[in-house]
Amino acid sequence: MCGIIGVTGAADALDILLDGLERLEYRGYDSAGVALVSPAGVDRVRIADGTHSVASLRGATEVLNGRSRSGVGHTRWATHGHPTEHNAHPHLDCSGRVALVHNGIIENHAELASRLTATGHILASDTDTEVLAHLIEEGLAAGDDLIAAVRSTLVEVRGAFALGVMSVDDPDLIVATRRISPLIVGLTDTASYLASDIPALLDRTRDLIALEDDQIAELRPGSVMVTDAQGAPATATVLRIDWDIDAAQKGGFKDFMSKEMADQPAAVRDTLRGRMGDDGMIALDQLDLSDDDLRLLTKVIVVACGSSFHAGLVAKYAFERWARIPVEVDIASEFRYRDPVLDATALVIGVSQSGETVDTLQAMRHARDDGARVVVVSNVVDSSMAREADGVLYTRAGPEIGVAATKTVLAQIAALELLALRLAQVRGEMTGEQVAVEFAELIRLESVLAETLGRAGDVAAVAAQLAHATDFFFLGRHAGFPTALEGALKLKEISYLHAEGYPGGELKHGPLAVIEPGCVVVAVATGGPLREKMLSNVSEVKSRGATVVLVLEDGDDEGAAVADYTFWVPASRDLQSPIKDIVPLQQFAYALAVGRGLDVDRPRNLAKTVTVE
Ligand code: M6R
Repeated sequence: MCGIIGVTGAADALDILLDGLERLEYRGYDSAGVALVSPAGVDRVRIADGTHSVASLRGATEVLNGRSRSGVGHTRWATHGHPTEHNAHPHLDCSGRVALVHNGIIENHAELASRLTATGHILASDTDTEVLAHLIEEGLAAGDDLIAAVRSTLVEVRGAFALGVMSVDDPDLIVATRRISPLIVGLTDTASYLASDIPALLDRTRDLIALEDDQIAELRPGSVMVTDAQGAPATATVLRIDWDIDAAQKGGFKDFMSKEMADQPAAVRDTLRGRMGDDGMIALDQLDLSDDDLRLLTKVIVVACGSSFHAGLVAKYAFERWARIPVEVDIASEFRYRDPVLDATALVIGVSQSGETVDTLQAMRHARDDGARVVVVSNVVDSSMAREADGVLYTRAGPEIGVAATKTVLAQIAALELLALRLAQVRGEMTGEQVAVEFAELIRLESVLAETLGRAGDVAAVAAQLAHATDFFFLGRHAGFPTALEGALKLKEISYLHAEGYPGGELKHGPLAVIEPGCVVVAVATGGPLREKMLSNVSEVKSRGATVVLVLEDGDDEGAAVADYTFWVPASRDLQSPIKDIVPLQQFAYALAVGRGLDVDRPRNLAKTVTVE
């Protein structure tokens, strides 16, 4: 997830770009850049300064003030290529006459890059984006104008994109287009704008067009023309937006947590994007483990903390069933103190949204020192763990600002399940058809998640009924067990209520003694192999007076008969099920916390990234 901005026809173009980038920083901040375009050429400045990138860019561009009335800008969240200045946008073609900003992922960038370099293009970055500038350069060289060159480029690329493209040959023109990634166009009588999101434009105009997939907008000072992929005029409805700027920065949501929950279908989709090769093999290009390495493994150990640990617990079921390899999942802060038995046939997987959690980092270092192969599943490109590991599997959830992990957890489970499928393929434990079925189910989750998110009102209504409860138990079995742990953690973390997560079968070994009227038991009873046993465990607590809330798949009337309240979710295959079953538990925690008047984005005593042991 990156942020893009553009303007044509404004005397203060540079300020507009910088102000817009500040408002888009929530979409990424590992580097930032602007290009002002005039007949004299492209003035480009790029800075990679972490969270200070946009502020540093403001300082570094003072000399450019008034240089041009049009330009594009970008704030980056790296997915391909390190977060360095040479990978920062805008990117240029070989001639330096085309400047381009991009948000999204170009899936076939590697094959396009080899074709371009074979015909003499020099690629100056390691990004997936830069190929687009060179493809447009080829179109221009063949006699196309900028719009035609962009149109023919789109035919060649696979993946997701929102683009702003400019050329020195027509410096008042910005060509904007999108597929999957969002893009907004803004209008005034004298200037035109583009941005990834509404907040970046709200202090300049409230007349906005949300471009549709494959539409191409031709932005000139005071006019915008929209055409479809074939060049025919397209209908573009101008919306009048009356949000205030503060709300708009959270995409119209009240807080980052609800925005990030809404981002979940895209987070999972983007994590899966381009990771199934044309040959039917799961493709994890930065993993850096050969097929022979994978075949020689004798065990997998996942090390992680908090919600990332829960993602690792879900993955254990997938690795063991699909790849038939033993898996241990360890709390990272305990791992190295138990003197684990490791050698080069052990694969240690660190799972960490931030890639900076010191307990996980130290566990990975310990494993590496003991000779194990070490990889990390991380959401932050070039995080400490990504730099130190032998290989990386990036989740592509975009920046997560809320302290409670939401979209990154679902993306971690998806990424780990991809790795489990890859291992199963290479070790000959699954056929191509079996892998294709499981992968298709992962892909289907985008729409399943969207449907589940749409049921937030039902969950909030249950939360309102239970607003006075103070003791919560979350139960699950099989992959529903880590789902329950995650539900309990979310509730504790943001509502400060007492919550425990247990495997359903464990209750009778002690915890059942504390169940009494007033306790709320939330149980995950979706369609896994132990659903019936889970329902029996629920009956045990119900008969002790607890109020029972069940997470059930649509149509499970038998389950509903046991419950006082239900959170309905669409059906899915059991190992993918946690990815959607976690959602109502997030929504439940959110509704209870908001009902208690708490700040869900900044819970007391907690930090987003824990860098102390
Ligand atoms: O950045 P990491 O994934 O390594 O962080 C691990 C935990 O600190 C984190 O998941 C924490 O438990 C969350 N705040 C839970 O919502």
